Amino acid sequence: MSESLILAIETSCDETSVAVIRDGREILSNIVASQIKSHMRFGGVVPEVASRHHVEQITQVIDMALEESGHGVPDMDAIAVTQGPGLVGALLVGVTAGKSLAMVYNKPLLAVNHLAGHIYASQLVKPLKFPLMALIVSGGHTELVYMKEEFSFEIIGETQDDAVGEAYDKVGRILDLPYPAGKYLDELAGKGNPEAYAIPRAMIHEDNFDFSFSGMKSAVMNTVHNAKQRGDEIVPEDLAASFQAAAVEVLVEKASKALREHTEVCQFILAGGVAANSGLRGELSTRLATEFPDVELIIPPLKLCGDNAAMIGTSAHHMFADKDFSELDINAIPGLML
Ligand code: KG4
Ligand code: ZN
Repeated sequence: MSESLILAIETSCDETSVAVIRDGREILSNIVASQIKSHMRFGGVVPEVASRHHVEQITQVIDMALEESGHGVPDMDAIAVTQGPGLVGALLVGVTAGKSLAMVYNKPLLAVNHLAGHIYASQLVKPLKFPLMALIVSGGHTELVYMKEEFSFEIIGETQDDAVGEAYDKVGRILDLPYPAGKYLDELAGKGNPEAYAIPRAMIHEDNFDFSFSGMKSAVMNTVHNAKQRGDEIVPEDLAASFQAAAVEVLVEKASKALREHTEVCQFILAGGVAANSGLRGELSTRLATEFPDVELIIPPLKLCGDNAAMIGTSAHHMFADKDFSELDINAIPGLML
């Protein structure tokens, strides 16, 4: 594939991130400025606060990414930016920065889909082989995506209510864990008994690839409420383990079902912030190794699972090769589809 040096910008939610990527594979820099501390006390991302932080940080993060890469904007072949999906005010900061750099330095602009970015993050680990199946699990998305070939995305299943990361964050709130709770809940779950509490495995036997997580969250809420009413203590480790076992079981079951029906698939990609989950990584690896030994599982390292600009830069490399450039009057698209 052609050579490229791409400056990539990601501001779809609460991380201001800028990366410089060479040839779609090599990360020369990938700066991620997290705003988590500012959102923690609200128990979730406050869109206005996110936009303000992006505005305050974006120029500095661009400078840091360039400095670490040893390159300046004039060296770039293109500027890439996340166009959506995400928070409109947050996206707009990145899109405006990207358009400005493209205009001032006369560089082509590449408008990247954030979800394509999560999937293509795996390309920074190994070359992708098609057809492949990807499970995107994040704070805003739970989607099973079939890719027949490069940049062809077919969503074969998705959540009918909460995203799995959102359910983790809500359950974490019930258990008084800091936001975002996924990581803490995962740690707690490792110390508990997954069979201690009954949490429903919603939609697990339905003949589709869809998910539902809000019932699991409600079951946790009811368990805590009923225990309080009876004057009983709940065991947070056991409740975390029981919730995690339910969430992981439905994800792994639907992933297996998708692979049973698409026997032509040669790689399975786990993508998004919840791909950091130890239970999910473990169960998925075991299931694939036993049931689908010919399918190669790719799970990016933790720093590439959460939101970051390297994943935007590596996706943009394909768009650059295809000359899939955008006009400089593009806007942020908060509901952008894959
Ligand atoms: O992809 P991401 O960084 O941002 C979105 O695009 O949403 O994902 C963030 C989500 C949060 O809901 C967070 O609680 C969850 O990923 N998360 C985890 C773990 N680490 C992060 N969920 C479960 N287990 C983890 N270890
Ligand atoms: Zn994301």
